[in-house]
Amino acid sequence: MAKIRKAVFPVAGLGTRFLPATKASPKEMLPVVDKPLIQYAADEAEEAGVDQLIFITGRSKRSIEDHFDKAYELEMELQQAGKTALLKIVRSVLPATASCIYVRQAEALGLGHAVLCARPVVGDEPFVVLLADDLIRTSGKGVVEQMADIHARHGCSVLSVQEVPREETHKYGIVEVETGSDGVMRVVSIVEKPAPADAPSNLAVVGRYLLTPRIFDKLENIREGAGGEIQLTDGISDLLRDEHVIAHPFEGKRYDCGSKLGYLEATVEFGLAHPELGERFSAYLRAFTQH
Ligand code: UTP
Repeated sequence: MAKIRKAVFPVAGLGTRFLPATKASPKEMLPVVDKPLIQYAADEAEEAGVDQLIFITGRSKRSIEDHFDKAYELEMELQQAGKTALLKIVRSVLPATASCIYVRQAEALGLGHAVLCARPVVGDEPFVVLLADDLIRTSGKGVVEQMADIHARHGCSVLSVQEVPREETHKYGIVEVETGSDGVMRVVSIVEKPAPADAPSNLAVVGRYLLTPRIFDKLENIREGAGGEIQLTDGISDLLRDEHVIAHPFEGKRYDCGSKLGYLEATVEFGLAHPELGERFSAYLRAFTQH
């Protein structure tokens, strides 16, 4: 089975829920403790063996390109000051084996449209899509690697899914699944942002998709869906007519960093788990909550 070498990061959204922070800089550059969201996602993809990072960018996204670029002046200064630990951190943002490609999505027409913009670069091979504002912490393998393992066994597209409260189905793509005797969940149908009463289940697709290249033919032929956007969910729904799609209830904890509350939760939990800060931050929180 084809190895997953390419990851697509759609970062052209407007990030309206985080205004004014996202007026001039992308939400994917919001840091959780000391790393921007986009770097957590890039690290997760690289750990799964991806070596081509494809960013679908829009206006005000220059800082993402700069983040993954070499920073000559900064490196020089750190070197001259003998700050080798910091130098190592700066240099490890992008491993030497990986390359970055930037594709411009001129208008934010929807996630499906953003993924379609990657077609000339992805070509005819399976690939993953990561939405960096879904930050996922795992104790073992990252979610992309978990999905790549499933793809290696079954050869089809894989969607990461998670149970959400019924009243929140209108925020997600929701899948209806059938579990086979092998324990594998196959997607029967998928619908974007259904009202709780219309949702086929409470299993939501979160921001990790492993897709076969056939998705591009489907995305080319769909019309605007929910919210007037070209929806990836609608493309996947069409894909289901031709191919199996597996739903993967991943191992790990997800933080919805596209929402302010999810972002704060991630900041607290990553802060507590941080090797340098964890203990002091935990003491601070204990003292603070006792007031
Ligand atoms: P969201 O639905 O989170 O939208 O997009 P958004 O614009 O980023 O944020 P809000 O809701 O206004 O606060 C899901 C993902 O798809 C990307 C976004 O960057 C985000 O990672 N996206 C969305 C695009 O790249 N292009 C689009 O046209 C739409």
